[in-house]
Amino acid sequence: MSVPAGEGQVAERVVAWQATHGRNHLPWQQTRDPYRVWLSEIMLQQTQVSTVLDYYARFLVRFPDVSALAKAPQDEVMGLWSGLGYYSRARNLHRCAQQVVADHGGAFPCTAEVLATLPGIGRSTAGAIAAFCFSERVPILDANVRRVLTRLLGFDKDLASAKNERLLWGLAGELLPTRDLGHAMPGYTQGLMDLGASVCTPRAPRCSECPLMEFCTAWSNKDPERYPVKTRKLVRRSESWLLAIVRDGQGRVWLQRRPSSGIWAGMHCVPVFSDEASRTAFVSGLGDRSRYVLEDLQPFLHVLTHRDLHLHPVLIHGDFGGNRLGDGEWLGPEQWQAVGLPAPIRKLLDATQAQLW
Ligand code: ADE
Repeated sequence: MSVPAGEGQVAERVVAWQATHGRNHLPWQQTRDPYRVWLSEIMLQQTQVSTVLDYYARFLVRFPDVSALAKAPQDEVMGLWSGLGYYSRARNLHRCAQQVVADHGGAFPCTAEVLATLPGIGRSTAGAIAAFCFSERVPILDANVRRVLTRLLGFDKDLASAKNERLLWGLAGELLPTRDLGHAMPGYTQGLMDLGASVCTPRAPRCSECPLMEFCTAWSNKDPERYPVKTRKLVRRSESWLLAIVRDGQGRVWLQRRPSSGIWAGMHCVPVFSDEASRTAFVSGLGDRSRYVLEDLQPFLHVLTHRDLHLHPVLIHGDFGGNRLGDGEWLGPEQWQAVGLPAPIRKLLDATQAQLW
């Protein structure tokens, strides 16, 4: 498969369309500082622009450059990320900042190839940073761009196969601008993202508004929704988690750090058990039964990308004399903000506080 007639014009059309119809006033578009662009690209993965705006601003106030971020305690980074979800992004962000300082003298590498060696920076994110900051002639292929390009090219091979994915990367490279790269690469890269977000949508694409309509195979075949083709379906699993919210007379809750891998890795959380026997064993270690009250709370579902978590909380409130309950610490509501708490746990704790006072 090769690129369609109109080769060369595709890039020019995208750049021109982006300048008038694309997004041009977002805070991370007012700079070529790779730290700021990198931060925005990581936050924008799986998260809408409208949500990212506040987080991005807060993050930059607290961590104005890569060395400030590298030096920060992990808890503080997780705390500022809290609510954005996909927390492995925050852990990798922190590790990446430390690696940029340790291995690159505090300056981000200026090629996609080297950027892609850093934690949390995949090939497409590396391409975006290199194109935006250094006008490097490299493609991107995030979900939006994959949709635009497979439709444009009529690329109907199954992207579940690594071979086909490589093929598409190659074609994406052939479509790149060839002239005036300093200006064209940022505009083209943003233009493909914007087209995928606003015109070439998964359902009911607005083909009549598309600058690539006349070159588009899917449009001429009237079947844009057929693309992209990917057969392997996400395997979803379901799990039950039993939670123990242990709260003392001062409103402090016993929180433990989650293991460094897996769901909510590295974040603070109430103790979690996979079965009732383990939770009962934990509760029986709390001491004199007359000093606390145990209350079953309403179970609820929390949906993650690959997992449905059925959460079954119990609230145990009483007097624990400040005793430690294993690994962890007693933290009050004013401290929950600063350490990273997964959004559903924070909501649950806020609700139990509201009920208390
Ligand atoms: N999603 C990922 N990168 C983006 C960007 N630069 N602008 C808007 N949405 C994006």
